[in-house]
Amino acid sequence: MRSKITVVGAGFVGSTLVQRIAERDYADVVMFDIVPNMPQGKALDMLQAGPVLGYDTLITGTNDYADTADSDIVVITSGFPRKPGMSRDDLLKKNQEIVSQVTEQIVKYSPNSILIIVTNPLDAMAQVALKVSGFPRERVIGMAGVLDTARFRTFIAQELGASVRDVQAYVLGGHGDTMVPLSRLCTVAGVPIAELLPAERIEQIVQRTRDGGAEIVKLLGNGSAYFAPSASVLQMLDSIVLDKKMIMPCAIYLQGEYGLNNLFVGVPAKLGAKGLEQVIEVELQENEQVQLKKSADAVKELIDVLGIA
Ligand code: APR
Repeated sequence: MRSKITVVGAGFVGSTLVQRIAERDYADVVMFDIVPNMPQGKALDMLQAGPVLGYDTLITGTNDYADTADSDIVVITSGFPRKPGMSRDDLLKKNQEIVSQVTEQIVKYSPNSILIIVTNPLDAMAQVALKVSGFPRERVIGMAGVLDTARFRTFIAQELGASVRDVQAYVLGGHGDTMVPLSRLCTVAGVPIAELLPAERIEQIVQRTRDGGAEIVKLLGNGSAYFAPSASVLQMLDSIVLDKKMIMPCAIYLQGEYGLNNLFVGVPAKLGAKGLEQVIEVELQENEQVQLKKSADAVKELIDVLGIA
């Protein structure tokens, strides 16, 4: 039987993701939104692309959580972007409300599902979903690291005129200004990046990666990135649906790994049919450990505002 995947939020990230899943042809998809008729309309449009693109994916748009019942995986993208005049904390609380409501309904209808959280601020929202669901940490995973790493790889490949496929990299830490691109472990076809680029150029690329989301927000003028974010969720889904055991950076609720506790932070994780199957502990140098701790502290500040520690 095909897997069943629900995507909550049929906005830019959610609907682009559903189209990408449809093209994989390995799961049926339910797309939920609170806006009446909109997910139904988008679902119908995507279904009608099936004969042209050759997929048999069943795509259902809905405003009723009953249609999401017995999903194997649920991706939560619902949330508000920051509006003018809204403080970071206002946004945090507004999205906490949305992610809490959504998680309650999802748990009711799909108690055995694996949750992938995409709503920002990512690490804090993953923690909201973990607390509200009561699920084990293996089944609540945040998407951030794959995207941040993809941005880093893009810039490195551009700089060197290399194929993105040859660039391997890791970005750890929270999904924000304090993320930690591990340039020491970045390689191009196996060659360490430090042998290919001067240190100050690498540092500029690291900074552009940190600002990667903001650069796009500024260009778009109204909204945030969605092509690379949805592609990044798809990579996580591939590993879970097909039980591929791929290792990729994800926001994981740490319990002692990397010296961090009871907090979602981006670390390399093995994903398979059970969700999180292993946290990979890379040995960090002292300065990297300090940066990771700083990043974790920034996540902790948000958690304290939400009062969900
Ligand atoms: N339940 C379900 N859907 C909701 C709810 C809710 N309680 N509240 C809002 N939504 C829906 C909106 O109706 C909208 O269709 O969530 C969707 C969000 O879509 P967009 O506004 O297009 O936002 P998008 O660009 O997709 O980003 C979604 O992902 O990357 C993050 O920072 C981004 O937090 C944001 C999220």
